[in-house]
Amino acid sequence: MTRIAVIGTGYVGLVTSACLADQGCEVTGLDRRQDLVDALELGEVPIHEAGLAPLLEAGRNSDRLRFTTSYAAALAGAEIAILCVDTPMSETGAADTSRLMSAVDSVAAAASSDLVVVIKSTAPVGTARDVHERLSRHPGRFTVVSNPEFLQQGHAVDDFRRPRRVVVGTETGEPIRELRDLYEPLGSPVITTTWETAELAKYASNAFLATKISFINEIAAICDAVGADVREVADAMGLDPRIGRSFLNAGIGYGGSCLPKDVAALVHTAREGGHDALLLSAVASVNDLLPSRTVSRLYQALGSLKGKRIALLGLAFKPETDDLRSAPSITLAAALQAEGALVTAYDPVVRSIATPGGAIEAAASALEALEGADAALLVTEWPEIVSLDWQAAAKTMRGHVLLDGRNAVSDAAIAGTGLRRIGVGVPEHTDG
Ligand code: UGA
Repeated sequence: MTRIAVIGTGYVGLVTSACLADQGCEVTGLDRRQDLVDALELGEVPIHEAGLAPLLEAGRNSDRLRFTTSYAAALAGAEIAILCVDTPMSETGAADTSRLMSAVDSVAAAASSDLVVVIKSTAPVGTARDVHERLSRHPGRFTVVSNPEFLQQGHAVDDFRRPRRVVVGTETGEPIRELRDLYEPLGSPVITTTWETAELAKYASNAFLATKISFINEIAAICDAVGADVREVADAMGLDPRIGRSFLNAGIGYGGSCLPKDVAALVHTAREGGHDALLLSAVASVNDLLPSRTVSRLYQALGSLKGKRIALLGLAFKPETDDLRSAPSITLAAALQAEGALVTAYDPVVRSIATPGGAIEAAASALEALEGADAALLVTEWPEIVSLDWQAAAKTMRGHVLLDGRNAVSDAAIAGTGLRRIGVGVPEHTDG
């Protein structure tokens, strides 16, 4: 049974730990936060991620999954250490690898035998080489592998078990037995390449997804200008297999802990290499403009926003997660508060958001958040929100504006409600 230490129990680390334990490995998850480790040891599940809770429970019951704050305990007898430490965005846009590097030092200090050190954190090109050099200062034999994750929050367990591809970067581009043993049972294509190529493959993938989203948001703005419907434009484009329909949903833009940070980091990497990444800079700029464009649309519909009640429907950066990192809801709420609006909110799992204008507590239900609202702003397309009783919503609201920031509510759903649905790149629809 392969013994594995997973360093960092954020969403990538937890999903990785739980899935590997489920695969039969003996896993110890390490985190420096004692309260988190205690909670995990007690069987608590700190994040909302489909399918994770039963896997964590099964891991605990089988004794194949343990959590600790001690590097020595995590690494005792381990053949592989998988680094899942976060690499947040620094002020320059570059990914900050300081936590990752300090985890590397701790791993090296605690390792007692040969160890394969796998970097799963999204880390800039050159990180694996830096880690290799850093480890060469320590006694012991370390093999460094870049093995980026492609987990989508909300589907992360499925993505881990049935990856579309596994990318393994090594110093020479040659496969490594330990990683082959780990991933072969999944039956997915494995691309074995060099460190740098593996690292760039990860950034390029996220940057391409962000590019698709900003592209369709640009087309949505053109649709608004000429009276076309971006949903049908995307359908027509998407039927071409060279283009594909996924990630062509226009709306209020991309958020989350990955796309915004990774585009910025790649622009930074390019600049350091002497290349001005014009396209990627524009991708970020298009996305950054969307909150103010959304607020302008409310302005057009309601006049001054001072004293107006605006209900945000959905707070998480996307459905099926409770993650608020770079969530558009926060930027939007702050912008609305700055205009003097009273912001109420509802989300099926998020209980509150913090904004410079003061924290906003989520109401107990969407209808409660909508009570007396001048406008509803659909931010996250949770199925529960999309399939709301719009008749009841319209009755409880004071105004009749529904700004659908995800183009998720159909004309049929608001039939007979009197709501005025304003979308993003779709013709406006008023019913009743
Ligand atoms: C993203 C990638 O999709 C994963 O493949 C990658 O592994 C992960 O980052 C990571 O680097 O860890 P994630 O951040 O979970 O996954 O979220 P996405 O599903 O990519 O969505 C990102 C944002 O784009 C969300 O705010 C979503 O609402 C928005 N989006 C997505 C759109 O606005 N339009 C679309 O058509 C699709």
